[in-house]
Amino acid sequence: MKKQLIKIWQWIDDRGGVSDLLKPLKTHLVPPNVKWNYVWGSATLFCLLVQIVTGISLGFLYQPSADVAYQSLQYIENDAVLGSFIRGLHNWGASAMIFLMGLHLIRVYINAAYKYPREMSWITGVLLMGLTIIMAFTGQLLRWDNNGVWSAVVAAEQIGRIPIFGDSISYFLLGGKTINGETLNRFFSMHVFLFPAILFMIVSYHVYLVFKNGISEPPKAGRLLNPKTYRKWYQDLLDKKGVPFFPDAIWRDAIFSLFVLVVLLILAFFVGAPALTSPPDLTNVQANPKPDWYFTWIFAIFALMPRQLESYVMFLAPLIGGIFLFSIPFLSNKGERSPLRRPWAIAGVVLVILAIGSLWYVGHQAPWHPRFNAKPLSEYSAVPKASEKVKKGIELYNTEGCLYCHKIGDQGGIRGPELTDVQNRLTKEEMIIRIVNGSENMPAYGGSLSKEELENIVAFLLQDSKSKNYKSKNNVEN
Ligand code: HEC
Repeated sequence: MKKQLIKIWQWIDDRGGVSDLLKPLKTHLVPPNVKWNYVWGSATLFCLLVQIVTGISLGFLYQPSADVAYQSLQYIENDAVLGSFIRGLHNWGASAMIFLMGLHLIRVYINAAYKYPREMSWITGVLLMGLTIIMAFTGQLLRWDNNGVWSAVVAAEQIGRIPIFGDSISYFLLGGKTINGETLNRFFSMHVFLFPAILFMIVSYHVYLVFKNGISEPPKAGRLLNPKTYRKWYQDLLDKKGVPFFPDAIWRDAIFSLFVLVVLLILAFFVGAPALTSPPDLTNVQANPKPDWYFTWIFAIFALMPRQLESYVMFLAPLIGGIFLFSIPFLSNKGERSPLRRPWAIAGVVLVILAIGSLWYVGHQAPWHPRFNAKPLSEYSAVPKASEKVKKGIELYNTEGCLYCHKIGDQGGIRGPELTDVQNRLTKEEMIIRIVNGSENMPAYGGSLSKEELENIVAFLLQDSKSKNYKSKNNVEN
């Protein structure tokens, strides 16, 4: 029996070339001190595998048609065996992939691993980053709930503002002038056929390049990279001190990927995917879509920017950013690799991270959105011994929507300034002027409030902050 099995194996190996295929793994040498800082790329690849497996599983049940997509997702979420878990994995897998890809990018940049002879690894890496973001973007719409749909549509319509081709691109993406049933089919096709195919090809090439050019050795301050002699120097290093990729280096990748998997399983199981919001209303633009976290910072840029600039920035920022990213290995592909000797390069990274971080924070707060779900102030508890005038003022404050944009105490939106202490800043007349005239971001209430109503609101705002201060626990529910 054993003999038979060995024979079968030998046949498969001889005709199928399995050993030959795996040989590079065993014979491929890597520099000796390639340590834990080198696991980000393989972990990103591992996340891609998770996405493939979970994506295909979701595809078994998902129906890419505008009439039934939402129901099929509800079915996956509520009834299908492991459905909600797998949806959670796919969602967290996407987040993890983007996060780890970012770390991989930062590591490669800080170590200047993009320099000779690995420029092509960098270029394909930038392409892969673009593709991964496109995958996240197209996947969001497949959720086919209000949030997912309108986040994608807002972005697609931003694209429409690109001069000259904008309209055509956006028409192509949406399958029409605005969102419609066909949009879903387009995004589905892009998300499961087109972009994965391109992604797999480039990933394979990216990984092939790692074997062809070797893993970059950790940089050392003062050791300059000379393209003329590098390949020979690197080969000598491997000959003298190299260790086989399998098993000496790959075990770290395996352990870290396992760790990523455990984290993903825990998140998918205990947190799950974002709850589906209501089904999309295609005839009614949703005012307040909340994109997935990796896009909030981009939304923040557009929300904070003066409107007239948006079209240009929409067009120029990705263009300039893309050209800059691609050109990095051409700006400098030799010389110093150590981050200790490249202070400006490192300062640049820190700056970019800080900028994206703060935009992300702002985007998360979404201060430009009125908070339509703000709890109304209660006229009884807010000002216990209030006069009739003040009570009417509180009521108007609720019903006229002031609280969507203004905070009092711990309640309300933050699009406009907090009004808890406004009585110390403004006189009665100044308040009235502001409310009647509005401003760029505040509607003018002159036409909709009577003189008496105005007096009432202002009487309320003029209260000292203590009697205005409103604690949720006293809330007599609306
Ligand atoms: C759509 C959001 C929005 C709504 C709704 C809104 N405001 Fe405002 N409000 C703002 C913004 C933004 C400012 C800051 C305007 C500026 O400084 O140009 C502001 C400014 C003010 C100010 C001046 C505050 C200061 O410190 O200078 C007062 C008072 C005020 N609003 C009262 C009200 C009242 C009362 C209502 C309801 C009747 C209301 N607002 C509704 C957005 C809003």
